[in-house]
Amino acid sequence: MRLVFLGFGTVGQGLAELLIEKKAELARKYGFKPTVVGIADMLKGNVYNPNGINLQIALAYAKAGKSLNKLTGKSIDGDALAFIKQAKADVLLEATYTDIKTGEPATKHCRAALNAGMHVVTTNKGPVALNYPALQRLAGRKKKKFLFEGTVVSGTPMINLIRTTLAGSAITEIKGILNGTTNYILTKMEEGMTYDAALTKAQKLGYAEAVPDADVLGWDALAKVTILAGVFFGAKAKPFDYSCKGITKITPQMITKAKKAGKRFKLIGRVWLKDGKVKASVGPQQVPMTHPLAGVSGATNAVTVTTDTLGDVTVVGPGAGRVETGYSMLIDLLHIGGVL
Ligand code: HSE
Repeated sequence: MRLVFLGFGTVGQGLAELLIEKKAELARKYGFKPTVVGIADMLKGNVYNPNGINLQIALAYAKAGKSLNKLTGKSIDGDALAFIKQAKADVLLEATYTDIKTGEPATKHCRAALNAGMHVVTTNKGPVALNYPALQRLAGRKKKKFLFEGTVVSGTPMINLIRTTLAGSAITEIKGILNGTTNYILTKMEEGMTYDAALTKAQKLGYAEAVPDADVLGWDALAKVTILAGVFFGAKAKPFDYSCKGITKITPQMITKAKKAGKRFKLIGRVWLKDGKVKASVGPQQVPMTHPLAGVSGATNAVTVTTDTLGDVTVVGPGAGRVETGYSMLIDLLHIGGVL
């Protein structure tokens, strides 16, 4: 399986680290032996080598701020689309920045790769939140897979869990803490840290989006809610069609007051069915301390899926982070490889 990375930031590097670390194990257990033939990044340059790129060296270059163009292979002139057209690969790993207002340029990248006969794995919420039906149809026509486990709660199973492990169940509600940065900030504010200090720390730890507004205004959770609504409930709505409030208006005083009343603020994303219609929202809620979601602290995410077969199924796990999101791409690759 020949792989091309588009975007070699936190997520791409997280996957690269896993591919190095787990190389022997993946080969032995699953016969899974991918070759990275291309890496392109808006800021770090690009390299294409059909014989395979030494990932360890590529990672060292990326970390040292050295241009990827200097790696063994050829660099391709032009933009990401030119790179996709010229690189011969089986899978595009799309991990460029998320824009949930336009879904671009990532949607164009996914389309170009599918049209070129590649499977696509993406962690980018934009294309899925805004263009899922069209991309899924295109993938179907091309007999390729379009997978995006990492778009919702990172590598913690959610998309694949509902799609495969819970197959045959009717889902009536999906609800939970879908954003790690805001949960981290709320947790730290309750411990006495200022909002700004907590946000800076979340950014340093690699939880926050490139533009943290997307986290604190609720847009990141909104994109995830829109993805869940579209993929599992067939909703056609776009992110900003749903009600969305972030955490910027939550003050330390409000947190203290809630605490005294035995409650805790959580940013809750929710998709549910009401009279056959799909509803969705994102907003801060005061959750009783006795509620399971109140105990979920830091950057951890927790999602409860309500099913007709098992009742509530709750998954708790990391919703952000370098290796965690990198892992989401690895599990999608193993599905594409058909080795599970
Ligand atoms: N910034 C996001 C979060 C990362 O904090 O949850 C994954 O979307």
